[in-house]
Amino acid sequence: MSLLRVCDDRASGLEAPLLPNGLTTEIDGLIRERFEVDKLLAHGIRPPRSAILVGPPGVGKTLSARWIAFRLNKPLWVLDLTTVMSSLLGKTGANLRMVFDHAKANEAVLLLDEIDAIAKRRSDESDVGELKRLVTAILQEVDSWPDSGLLLAATNHPELIDPALWRRFDAIFQFPNADVTTVERGIRRFLGRDAGNFETYIGMLADALKGSSLSDVERSVTTLRRRVLLKEASPAEVVVSLVSPHIEELDKAHRQTLAIELAKSQAYSHNRIMELTGVSRDTIRKYAGPSPIKGRSGRKDA
Ligand SMILES: Nc1ncnc2c1ncn2[C@@H]1O[C@H](COP(=O)(O)OP(=O)(O)O)[C@@H](O)[C@H]1O
Ligand SMILES: [Mg+2]
Repeated sequence: MSLLRVCDDRASGLEAPLLPNGLTTEIDGLIRERFEVDKLLAHGIRPPRSAILVGPPGVGKTLSARWIAFRLNKPLWVLDLTTVMSSLLGKTGANLRMVFDHAKANEAVLLLDEIDAIAKRRSDESDVGELKRLVTAILQEVDSWPDSGLLLAATNHPELIDPALWRRFDAIFQFPNADVTTVERGIRRFLGRDAGNFETYIGMLADALKGSSLSDVERSVTTLRRRVLLKEASPAEVVVSLVSPHIEELDKAHRQTLAIELAKSQAYSHNRIMELTGVSRDTIRKYAGPSPIKGRSGRKDA
């Protein structure tokens, strides 16, 4: 059973994943249908018993599976196929069958995470047969999963999924890359109680981080918070270190705000701020007063 990880968020609670509205509606629909299993069955309609979550890494697939289980008031059982496939195949088939039976008996929500790992495994002669049996076993499970349970799968590589497996899922949820609005909501959420300190910068951070996964956004925001909390730098300084690779994509207003805040924090000379932000010294002086550091280019470690 060491292949199985249990995520139970019922005690601590869980915030809804940040997703585009359309996807949230689809996921809410699945949850509602799962709540109404009896009503559906009474009308001779089968409830959805399986769903596959598809999208790039770090967009919230595993988190959404946790969310679905949490909303259904159940723990989530996670079977990470990457781990399963890296373990010796020999006994895996039998162990997996045990996991499936156990999950069905408990009416659990079971997540087959990174399910593409099965296709990725390069098999030598000796385990080709075992691998085939494994895929067949999973196909059968998806087909025969009881109405009382929910079987989820997640993948970053839909192209690797056996088409026969693919069409067996009752629902397919496509997770797109986060759009700029979602990134901004993520920044606010991950800033938590520090959101006030960074309010001026949230727009430009969203602009700089758009296109990143929320998992990456979370990491960047946590770094910012840590550096400011430990007084390694002012909010303006940590923001400039994060946005500087994207500085040319930022609009003028964002660059100006950043330049002025940097000038006010007195961390850099106006020359250096001009280099970092592309905002003219005149503009900086106009809004922030004279440069604190005369004739030098200030600290270089931006
Ligand atoms: N849509 C999202 N909403 C909120 N947090 C997210 C979202 N996507 C990613 N995260 C953050 O990044 C972490 C990793 O995301 P995860 O669900 O494991 O991504 P995936 O399974 O798609 O690779 C989450 O635990 C969460 O902290
Ligand atoms: Mg995942």
